[in-house]
Amino acid sequence: MAKPRRRFVCQACGSLSNRWQGQCADCGEWNTLVEEVPETVFSARHHLSSGGRAIAFEPLDAPGERLQRRATGLAEFDRALGGGLVPGSAILMGGDPGIGKSTLLLQAAARIAQAGGRAVYISGEEAAGQVRLRAERLGLAGAPVSLAAATSVRDILTTLGGPEFLGAAPALLVIDSIQTMHSDQIEGAPGTVSQVRGCAFELIRYAKENGVALVLVGHVTKDGAIAGPRVLEHMVDVVMSFEGERSHQYRILRSLKNRFGPVDEIGVFAMAGQGLEEVANPSMLFLSGREEPVPGSAVFPAMEGTRPVLVEIQALIVRLASGATPRRAVVGWDSGRLAMLLAVLEARCGLNFSSAEVYLNVAGGYRLADPAADLAVAAALISALGDRPLPGAAVWFGEISLAGEVRPVAHSAIRQREAAKLGFTRAFGPAGGGKTEAGVSYVEIALLPNIVDRILSPA
Ligand code: TYD
Ligand code: MG
Repeated sequence: MAKPRRRFVCQACGSLSNRWQGQCADCGEWNTLVEEVPETVFSARHHLSSGGRAIAFEPLDAPGERLQRRATGLAEFDRALGGGLVPGSAILMGGDPGIGKSTLLLQAAARIAQAGGRAVYISGEEAAGQVRLRAERLGLAGAPVSLAAATSVRDILTTLGGPEFLGAAPALLVIDSIQTMHSDQIEGAPGTVSQVRGCAFELIRYAKENGVALVLVGHVTKDGAIAGPRVLEHMVDVVMSFEGERSHQYRILRSLKNRFGPVDEIGVFAMAGQGLEEVANPSMLFLSGREEPVPGSAVFPAMEGTRPVLVEIQALIVRLASGATPRRAVVGWDSGRLAMLLAVLEARCGLNFSSAEVYLNVAGGYRLADPAADLAVAAALISALGDRPLPGAAVWFGEISLAGEVRPVAHSAIRQREAAKLGFTRAFGPAGGGKTEAGVSYVEIALLPNIVDRILSPA
């Protein structure tokens, strides 16, 4: 008999190799190849020989079989999911350690249980006592959640298939986390690719067969990817990521993949003493709430998916006397983009930043990725440079080209309506890119130099 082939699996991307290498040939990660014993559980070969049953085809349109969703009662969670949990679906939730994944899922489980649904929370990371302590702190100790500390998938599935759950599968099953689970059908320690994949496979199959909404918590590696094989992302229906700066209280729940709803949808929470609070109006969180306008501050109506969020951009310019190399420091925005904007302001508007230090900050620990922020950043920089506040009650949006043109951006109307809701009366934006929305007068800016005089010359 031939000696069985040795098999090495990259722990980052899941790709296979038959010899050990220092670097994965597929994803380029170093030191990620680990030898694993081939799995036998999923071998389909012996099913192919005989005894197969014919499959039944179904029409695309099945009236009366609409997607039933179950609202958890945490509106921001439901919103990020696209309207609630879909029975028989699997959700993978990633996020940095300590960001609040366990807290969020315990709160969701408690809400479902309080509304009369069955919610099971399996913790592989903490003892039941620790989870109970957290529940007490959250004021949820009375919620009838079925809580257990377990790591064996066989034990978990045996329990869920046992008398206690006969004819009443849970509405929600939380597995916290998939990396701590192990299956005795598969070789290898918990957390290895084959264990993670195998455990997920068994849990997902149980969820699909029993109409259970399954949430798998996934650890995140240093660079933000969900640890374990990429295949995990392909196995589930929804991939969510829970994000935020640990030093700030706000948290954003984002859906990165959703077979049943839109991606780009977000839920916003604030971490408080009593757990995660829903933030129905995120704009309030990121504005400083200052009455008097100050130099260097501009408000930008950002888009998070389909949802507008007003954020404050702050710039500070410090003139240097000596010829030392001036600093440029950015928090919450791209430093390359700042360098580009400064160059455009110098070349197209004749402003001089070369002997000044430039600091740019997005308030509230928010991280901006929307290219429409250019105009607001430029306005903040000009205002800081001239030490003159921007016109009050105004928002700014538009993308700036290297030629200094202000380019149209998406969602002009939504941005303006959000501004109006929060009491802003003016919007500065690209020419032809928008029309005036209720309550906000729209000021068209075609070229960046056009706003320089407006900001720097006395009113
Ligand atoms: P946790 O849900 O354990 O994070 P994860 O499961 O993503 O690792 O959240 C832990 C953090 O949340 C911890 O640093 C303390 C903080 N926290 C609060 O601020 N308020 C609370 O009510 C709770 C339960 C946690
Ligand atoms: Mg946790």
